Amino acid sequence: MKVKATVLIDNYAFGSHGVFAQHGWAVFLETDQGNYLLDTGAGKIIVNNAQALGVDLDSILGIILSHHHHDHTGGLLEVLEHLRRPIPVYAHPGLFKDSFMRKDGEFRHSGIPFRREVLETKGACFDLDAAFREIAPGLWLTGAVPRTTSYELGEPRQVIRQEEGFIQDPLEEDLSVVIRTEGGLFVVLGCAHAGIVNTLRYAMERTGETRIHTVCGGTHLGLLGETQREESIRDLKALSIGCLGVSHCTGMQAALRMAQEFGERFVFCKVGAVFAG
Ligand SMILES: [Fe+2]
Ligand SMILES: [Fe+2]
Repeated sequence: MKVKATVLIDNYAFGSHGVFAQHGWAVFLETDQGNYLLDTGAGKIIVNNAQALGVDLDSILGIILSHHHHDHTGGLLEVLEHLRRPIPVYAHPGLFKDSFMRKDGEFRHSGIPFRREVLETKGACFDLDAAFREIAPGLWLTGAVPRTTSYELGEPRQVIRQEEGFIQDPLEEDLSVVIRTEGGLFVVLGCAHAGIVNTLRYAMERTGETRIHTVCGGTHLGLLGETQREESIRDLKALSIGCLGVSHCTGMQAALRMAQEFGERFVFCKVGAVFAG
């Protein structure tokens, strides 16, 4: 099918009038099977940015949450209050878990900043599933992505509390959107906590498609050290990727490395960037 993805929220904004940037991520997806919103940013700017970019938030058939982190879920309440109608919200069952970011010896809550009941009274109809699933013809959510590479090990500062103390959050709930287009798969990541290579390989395996038309979103590669960054870039280059658009938790240095390696196939995501397939 055909798809158009417009970046509504990202860490960077330039070239579009009336929008704000924030540490967060949200993408408006227009497809032959209807419109969807992937993630909602950290809060306070999604309705403004949608209006400034001329996309019709009211038209969405569902909200997809890539994972529970507040920079992806913090705008959910205002989207519900804007819509004022029941709306499916697709995510992994781990959406409401407690998690923390360890920074300078402090633990900051990093999960969804709302209680489920509050969101439900505002119209959220949660559809939570860990499986790879098709929510519309040709549009899949990966669900939990198997960790198959040796080097995509996640972020040690992201933790959950267990009886024995804090342990690294495996972030098993991280999911991505996969859309089949004529030119191959169109993949939109949240933060790729599961690993961008793991995610793409899983999408290819489950759909039987070997071409990646476009992959865009956060890669987390700027936060994970040089080994993971370089091994990921090496394995990404071995895939058939037509367009690689990165931002959010990618960081400038990792983005520049990928720009070097992918040349004209590289796009720097920012608020207002449009990807079509
Ligand atoms: Fe994020
Ligand atoms: Fe995240």
